[in-house]
Amino acid sequence: MEVLIAETYDEMSVRAAAVVGKLIKIKPNAVLGMATGSTPLGLYRELVRLHQDEGLDFAQVTTFNLDEYVGLPNDEPHSYHYFMHEHFFQHVDVPSGNIYIPSGTTSNHAAFCAWYEERIRECGGIDIQILGIGADGHIAFNEPGSSLGSRTRLKTLARQTIEDNARFFERPDDVPVYAITMGVGTILEARAIVMLANGKTKAAAVARAIEGPVTSMITASALQLHPSVRVFLDRDAASELQMNDYWNWVQENRPRQG
Ligand code: F6R
Repeated sequence: MEVLIAETYDEMSVRAAAVVGKLIKIKPNAVLGMATGSTPLGLYRELVRLHQDEGLDFAQVTTFNLDEYVGLPNDEPHSYHYFMHEHFFQHVDVPSGNIYIPSGTTSNHAAFCAWYEERIRECGGIDIQILGIGADGHIAFNEPGSSLGSRTRLKTLARQTIEDNARFFERPDDVPVYAITMGVGTILEARAIVMLANGKTKAAAVARAIEGPVTSMITASALQLHPSVRVFLDRDAASELQMNDYWNWVQENRPRQG
């Protein structure tokens, strides 16, 4: 695991976007795993800038989103379909047929989830998965107690997640209780993972995910088992790490690529 600590949210976002952009240049038909929420907004902003100002081409890219609320139609402003369109897809040239986001309105959750997993496989697997982290240590909507081998499925959101996400809704009661989410096992199959976190509210979860034991109580801790994870943090999110000196030392002494 590589931990990169930036001074600001913007710096964190730009550095993470550079990793995604570099991959797309090397592999124009890359398969990207996408996250929603407030954390990756800066990363998407920077990818849009790279597209508009520097010609980063998404014409062959395929995307799979991590999750979607159950019960929200695609055009509902709180849905993750809407979020992705607003903040990313309408600004870049990913073909609409290459965009996959779990359905919030399917009547057959099990069949949909099996199909979603199959589509990921058929598209060659995810090259790079973008992740945020919840204050309870979740990745995607894999709440504490989720199996670390879990696959895409219907999940009941934890109370903490509902409370945290109420800020996006008019009333707390409007937050859906269920979501379809990729599983931890699904995420761990991505070839590379980029996780971002900013702000003090994430500091404890980040420390437990990176430096604590691997446990289903902090599903992000499963990333310790993955061979290619880069974690991009701002100073606040990094503030409870025990090994800050080491993470910085590693960055200062990165071996030159031969
Ligand atoms: C969103 C997702 C969630 C968020 C997490 C953090 O697709 O999978 O795990 O990454 O809840 O959300 P924010 O970024 O809003 O703090």
